[in-house]
Amino acid sequence: MAHAAPPSSSAGRTPPRAVAQADIVPMVWLSCGLAALAGLLFGMDIGVISGALPFIVDEFDVSSAMEGWIVSSMMVGAAVGALSAGWVSKAMGRKRALLFSSLLFIVGALVAVAAQGTGLLVIGRIILGLAVGVASFTAPLYLSEVTPERIRGTTISFYQLMVTVGILAAFVSNAAFSYIESWRWMFGVLVIPAALLFFGALSVPNSPRWLAAKDRLDEARDVLSQLRGTPEEVEYEMSEIREALARESESRGFALFKNNPNFRRSVFLGVGLQIVQQFTGMNVIMYYAPQIFQASGFEGTSASLWATVITGLTNVLATFIAIAFIDRIGRKPILYAGFVMMAITMAILSFILHIGPTTATLQYTAMAMVLLFVVGFAMSAGPLIWTLCAEIQPLQGRDFGMAASTGANWIGNFFIGMLFPIMFVGIGGPWTFGLLAVVNVGFIFFTLKFVPETKGISLEKIEKNLLSGKALKDIGI
Ligand code: BGC
Repeated sequence: MAHAAPPSSSAGRTPPRAVAQADIVPMVWLSCGLAALAGLLFGMDIGVISGALPFIVDEFDVSSAMEGWIVSSMMVGAAVGALSAGWVSKAMGRKRALLFSSLLFIVGALVAVAAQGTGLLVIGRIILGLAVGVASFTAPLYLSEVTPERIRGTTISFYQLMVTVGILAAFVSNAAFSYIESWRWMFGVLVIPAALLFFGALSVPNSPRWLAAKDRLDEARDVLSQLRGTPEEVEYEMSEIREALARESESRGFALFKNNPNFRRSVFLGVGLQIVQQFTGMNVIMYYAPQIFQASGFEGTSASLWATVITGLTNVLATFIAIAFIDRIGRKPILYAGFVMMAITMAILSFILHIGPTTATLQYTAMAMVLLFVVGFAMSAGPLIWTLCAEIQPLQGRDFGMAASTGANWIGNFFIGMLFPIMFVGIGGPWTFGLLAVVNVGFIFFTLKFVPETKGISLEKIEKNLLSGKALKDIGI
């Protein structure tokens, strides 16, 4: 998911008037709702498979390798979608890119619903992935371009929150449809938010920044007049957009990547951070929670699906911990706490599966470990890695850097989704979770050595430090 960073105020001028939250024009709220829908769809696409999988496995009698493919094919599509989304949203414009992705969502869901074999199901998942890749890059970008600067800061966390709400929504619909044993309905419901995204995208204006980039300055001004309260605000932002565009034309992401070793390092750090996020093992829980609960002694598919709903709810609620503390405590301490928690809970889960979850106490302890693991992720690496990835890219190369790290997120996601069932069957649950515990310990050292603390430091300062040759881990301080 590409969470665009709040663009920094370029010339240090103060905006003409600090308008109260209540004055923010309805069109802006509509646009926020649209980006929220894209986040929701992102989450629903991730969440749907965990509930559908046990029924799909029953119906088509699939091998564990094919099971991994059914889960991971979406990530292949999403990686391709995310890597090409920069180009798509530039060529078509943000609005049309969102319309396009909503159509892809609908087609992908319908192909999956109609699939009579695993081949078509995989194709449906790839189309859904392409939709997620394009939408998850474009929606936050559109959001950051249409919302006034004073409310932009909250959009990154808001978007991540919507992803978790989407996962929860899918878990609830999975549990509900498990009673009629219909994995097809679980995919079918994706059409509802996708159709809402389509009609929502039809009714919002083009991004003023994109219009200006296409030299359609009069239209850009017209749109801004719909989005801002006063003519002064409109003129202020028009001049900001012009400045930003002038800066961008000097930049060229790839050239910067080739010529500037510091930018190269920040791109690699972004990629590394996203790989770290995926290899915490969070998506193992998101995709395979029902199976993990069954392995921990919870009999029956519906029971394990309801246990999964609790996992989704925990994910949503714990995201608020990150939102509350990210700017108070700082990024690194929260990451340490999260990795420690994830390592300990995975180690205990591994131990319980090793001795066998024979008593109710052991079964509930296993479930508690899964939930605490989710808390560890949602309060730290979940939202924080996205925030950091946006913060460490200089404005000049942000699109390039974000496309690279977002692509890495989906590629990491692909490998983890693919590897888990093979490992679970091959080396067994205790070793698989034990390995995840060790990996999370490794990430504590990764954070110590490579991650900069960016709390309370302006994006301009980070960019200046970065481009002036400071060591990456010191760019924030
Ligand atoms: C990750 C997703 C994950 C989600 C869980 C996001 O930050 O990128 O891969 O499924 O969090 O809430």
